[in-house]
Amino acid sequence: MMTLKEAISKRHSVRRYLDVPIEEEKVQRLNEIIDVLNKSLDLHIQLVLNDRAVSTKNGKPKYGSFENAYNYFVLAGKKCKDLNEKLGYAGECLALNAVILGLGTCFVGMSYTNNKDKYVLEKDESLDLMLYVGYSNGTEHARKSKPYEDVAKGENAPAWFIDGVEAALLAPTAMNQQKFTLEYIDGRVKAKYGLGVFTKTDLGIVKYNFEIASGKDSSIWY
Ligand SMILES: Cc1cc2nc3c(=O)[nH]c(=O)nc-3n(C[C@H](O)[C@H](O)[C@H](O)COP(=O)(O)O)c2cc1C
Repeated sequence: MMTLKEAISKRHSVRRYLDVPIEEEKVQRLNEIIDVLNKSLDLHIQLVLNDRAVSTKNGKPKYGSFENAYNYFVLAGKKCKDLNEKLGYAGECLALNAVILGLGTCFVGMSYTNNKDKYVLEKDESLDLMLYVGYSNGTEHARKSKPYEDVAKGENAPAWFIDGVEAALLAPTAMNQQKFTLEYIDGRVKAKYGLGVFTKTDLGIVKYNFEIASGKDSSIWY
């Protein structure tokens, strides 16, 4: 089976899906992962399947037009200072596990239809964005990335840091903005987000990729 590390380079945003359902075993596996993430990070992520009311609006030429996009993870959780970052981190965990299951995904922060009948939010919770999921029709493609030097800083960085940054550069970010920096300082890493939309969510996504590729855990971050 493919590893999470291998899934990082296989993942590309999928906006055009086949009109076929996700098999029950795969849905179960995704729901198990959601449970672990919700418990460990105090989130309320939910998987909505076959929401056809949403898919009828998919043709709209907003930022990214979508086809047969009617399955999605609702990326939501208890309001707190770092909710966006936690949801990015958890969302990327789901996106990479989806790749392992042969599925494609796309984070959607701007151009989604918000069908509030399909999920539950408590008063103290908030929704950041959606992560669409399904079988790709195979038309997605690789995109450009910033060079290593644009995002990485620090002297005498070890191999694990370089691996982490390279994986971070493969992470999805809103509008492919890649507005983050990763600095190696005395054995640990300072991760910063820049100005822009969804940059805190992006940083969570980037940190997940970095941890997987470097083999380090969250104790690596300043
Ligand atoms: C936080 C976030 C929000 C995004 N919002 C949208 C969106 O509203 N519409 C869309 O088509 N793509 C959206 N994307 C997908 C990005 O455009 C895509 O990840 C980026 O161009 C990099 O391409 P890749 O994912 O294929 O590596 C979003 C991605 C992220 C991380």
